[in-house]
Amino acid sequence: MPSLQEQIQEYQLEINSFKPENAADLENFRIRFLGTKGIVKSLSAEMKNVPADQRKEAGQQLNAFKQLAEGKYSEFADLHADAAGKGPAIDISLPAAPLPLGTRHPLRIVENQIISIFEKIGFTVASGPEIEDDWHNFNSLNMPADHPARDMQDTFYVSQNPDWVLRTHTSSTQARILETQPLPVRVICPGRVYRNETISARAHCFFHQCEGLYVDKDVSFADLKQTLYYFVTELFGEGTKVRFRPSYFPFTEPSAEMDISCTVCGGSGCSLCKHTGWVEILGCGMVHPNMLRNFNIDPEVYTGFAFGLGVERITQIKFAVNDLRLYSQNDVRFLRQFQSL
Ligand code: PHE
Repeated sequence: MPSLQEQIQEYQLEINSFKPENAADLENFRIRFLGTKGIVKSLSAEMKNVPADQRKEAGQQLNAFKQLAEGKYSEFADLHADAAGKGPAIDISLPAAPLPLGTRHPLRIVENQIISIFEKIGFTVASGPEIEDDWHNFNSLNMPADHPARDMQDTFYVSQNPDWVLRTHTSSTQARILETQPLPVRVICPGRVYRNETISARAHCFFHQCEGLYVDKDVSFADLKQTLYYFVTELFGEGTKVRFRPSYFPFTEPSAEMDISCTVCGGSGCSLCKHTGWVEILGCGMVHPNMLRNFNIDPEVYTGFAFGLGVERITQIKFAVNDLRLYSQNDVRFLRQFQSL
């Protein structure tokens, strides 16, 4: 039987070379050396066999041995902490990884601006269906079946029902408003519209319009001009010039198209305004008496104005977007540019 000192020396070697891989290794070490039935305990029990004159020295050796075992254990105590999911591996005081933030679509940004400008002067927002019947998209708007103006817009028809179309303009919502709302009405109707066009940088089979309609007693062309002038000044800033050119729409008489002075070159000529100094932004006019009659409104008593603008067009002018296809490609590199708006 080796002496107490010999045993201690042997275990010291074991402890010195001990290197736990994981928490289980460390736990086995603790049980083997420091547990209630461990080596330190059993060596202490052997003290009684040590002759009295050597006991003091043996006691010191045993104490040093115990400290060695405890020191080794606490050197690797982190392994336990890691296994329990806490400790230095994770610093809970660090800020969380940021979540990527989505952005509003540029068309929605501009639509919201348009809406809030008109809301300030008493317009409310109305909407209508994208699948429309012939009456609301054409007929009631003074465009009977044989009317040549139907060719102004290339229409998608819905195969299930020959009377249904994908609305070609938001003017269909004007019709629905006059049909259902008591006068006076003052609404804007933003929404998506569809036309059978080949997709290119300058044309798309769907796009967005915002329609405006104001019908009351004594509404005049001067009201139309002043309302639209207010609108462009709010949207494009003081100093924006406007001009009205005579035009034709079946549902307005007289009709006009409105241009604004080019926001890029200020009127001196550039590629946006095709060197004319002016960019067209909307169609408008006084609601045609035939249209009012279609909704049992007496054109001798009530008059009104209407306008329709293209949201893509305005967005293109505001943000210098030169390809209509960008709006529906969902390319985040394009969309992220509007993050701060
Ligand atoms: N609906 C017309 C278009 O799509 C625009 C318009 C609306 C013109 C209202 C006059 C009045 O081209």
